[in-house]
Amino acid sequence: MWEYSDKVKEHFTNPKNVGSIENADAVGQAGALSCGDKLKLYLKIDGNKITDAKFQTFGCGSAVAASSVLTEMLIGKTLDEARKITNKQIADELDGLPPEKMHCSVMGREALEDALKNYYQEDWEDLEDDVEEGSMIICHCFGVSEKQIIDAILNNGAKTFDDISKITSAGLACGRCRENIKAIISRYVKNDEKKTLTPVQKIIKINNVIETVISPELQKDFGDIELVNVDNNNVYVKLKGHCSQCANAKLTLKNFVETKLKELVDDDIVVFEEK
Ligand code: FES
Repeated sequence: MWEYSDKVKEHFTNPKNVGSIENADAVGQAGALSCGDKLKLYLKIDGNKITDAKFQTFGCGSAVAASSVLTEMLIGKTLDEARKITNKQIADELDGLPPEKMHCSVMGREALEDALKNYYQEDWEDLEDDVEEGSMIICHCFGVSEKQIIDAILNNGAKTFDDISKITSAGLACGRCRENIKAIISRYVKNDEKKTLTPVQKIIKINNVIETVISPELQKDFGDIELVNVDNNNVYVKLKGHCSQCANAKLTLKNFVETKLKELVDDDIVVFEEK
């Protein structure tokens, strides 16, 4: 049985700001009923400030508590302050969540991001581009950034997923970040046994890896990929299906496609997306 803090119990038994907002300025959703948790978040925005926040949640007690505390955190914040709220801060505000329940705080963060994306619309990409390099959060449950993982590899000698988990705690809860962490490891931990390929062999191998390794993985999420061109170590690809519209397309390209090609073909490969 999991141990819950008093704050989690309080927000679960007496949730704040439950319901919807008529004429909300921003609405965001996360989770899916088929997965057991779903959250809809409503925001009222005046100028640059969030003046009201309400939620409707279907899910466990932690999901209700995380949603409830998130609305309290949001009311009175500026949009810029709200954009920087991490799921770890949501969990901290509840005096912590059991590792198995950290995904409830991730759902809160995702619903907030969805609401802000809907509010900002086309300006959202520009705001995201302002994010400092390496500060992208890889493990949302523990708020571990790409930079922290790279530091663990370069400065603390981490070589495996378990090493990274021991140093940063990343990956110890829902495990959704596992593949991205492994991808970063293969980018930074050198594989000396890789053979030198001729240019033609390299193109054949790239094509083969895309068709037999990368494409089947993306198809599981209703996406796909097509090889467009290879110019030395520059590989040009087109994302298709869900991948082409996915908000995480850049992450998929860097942390999955490029990493797999580095791992299986050549460490110097760089992947570019063709629109
Ligand atoms: S995102 Fe859940 S453990 Fe990393």
